[in-house]
Amino acid sequence: MELLLAPSGRSGVPPFIVMDVMAAAERIEAAGGHVIHMEVGQPAAAAPKPALDAAAAALRGGRIDYTSALGIVSLRQRIARHYRESYGCAVDPDRVVITTGSSGAFILAFLAMFDPGDRVAVTIPGYPPYRHILTALGCEPVLIETSSETRHALTGEALLAAHRKAPLKGVLVGSPANPTGTMMSREALTGLMAAAEGAGIRFISDEIYHGLDYAFPAVTAAELSPHALVINSFSKYFCMTGWRVGWMVVPQPLVRPIERLQQNLAISVPTLSQIAAEAAFDGAEEMEAIKRGYLENRRILIEGLPRAGLTRFLPADGAFYLYADVSEFTSDSLAFAKTMLEKTHVAATPGVDFDPLHGRNFIRFSYARSADDMREAVTRIARWLA
Ligand SMILES: Cc1ncc(COP(=O)(O)O)c(C=O)c1O
Repeated sequence: MELLLAPSGRSGVPPFIVMDVMAAAERIEAAGGHVIHMEVGQPAAAAPKPALDAAAAALRGGRIDYTSALGIVSLRQRIARHYRESYGCAVDPDRVVITTGSSGAFILAFLAMFDPGDRVAVTIPGYPPYRHILTALGCEPVLIETSSETRHALTGEALLAAHRKAPLKGVLVGSPANPTGTMMSREALTGLMAAAEGAGIRFISDEIYHGLDYAFPAVTAAELSPHALVINSFSKYFCMTGWRVGWMVVPQPLVRPIERLQQNLAISVPTLSQIAAEAAFDGAEEMEAIKRGYLENRRILIEGLPRAGLTRFLPADGAFYLYADVSEFTSDSLAFAKTMLEKTHVAATPGVDFDPLHGRNFIRFSYARSADDMREAVTRIARWLA
């Protein structure tokens, strides 16, 4: 009987610890505590009004049918227009695929590009599901360490060094990055992509934090090569996490394989969310105002955390994260985050989620909530660390 109930080996992926921290925070809230949520990378704002209006109108219309597997054509066209307007980059709408968030995109991309056993490079610190999804699909995530010296940008040299040890089939990078908030310059991205292409390594660019760039405009890999696979989402800049809608720009030869995979795995992406997503592009003013809020939050933390005792972090270029080195206080970031949550009711994510090697020395703060929350968090942490 036990054998019948045993889960598969591939399902034994580690938890996404941030979700566990959220659950602990919820328990404190259920007992009446006021938690400041700096653990989860989730905008405090609702979806932009045009998105909400479009969804409400569609609901009133009654039927919500399947869409085609690649997504609603007008949404794919609108995304192609976004590349033209935001990056000056021509993208054929046929290469745009709508996905169930960028999370759904990773599954489709990995299935379409890699076979079981293929080695795929990801950076650490980095977004944990990259490596966990690869593992669940039978691929081998190859962890390449980045450091603050390159502002956590993966270099072509580091990629090729890993490739020489054992051949890589692919590489995935994100910029602006989670958890460090650092960004790759145009030169750094161009150099890395050239190194990858030269060595026959497939390139995936996670651009989910595009739009939330403060240091300099983010560069899309779609502009640099038609062979790159670009992943993006409505979750962050567009404030639509729970709508579960994202997109990919895929190399032409992968369009049909991905269409076949999506047909079989999901049929299509939720229709209501696709309708709302298309309208979200009309909410630019709202989203830019929210972005200015993040910029202010970033300022409050960059000035406030050092006064509170946390001095060692890179001033993030984008996204809404700061990744602080807390090694002068602990070598167990999981226990540190747990105690901080209990004592201060400030929830943050332990670095072990992002980096199995050095994460025990780091804590990630998300600053996607209100400025008042940021000020209050700094005050609480200062009192605790004092
Ligand atoms: C770097 C990165 N990529 C992808 C995702 C997944 O986002 P979604 O599936 O909501 O698009 C996240 C979520 O936090 C993220 O931080």
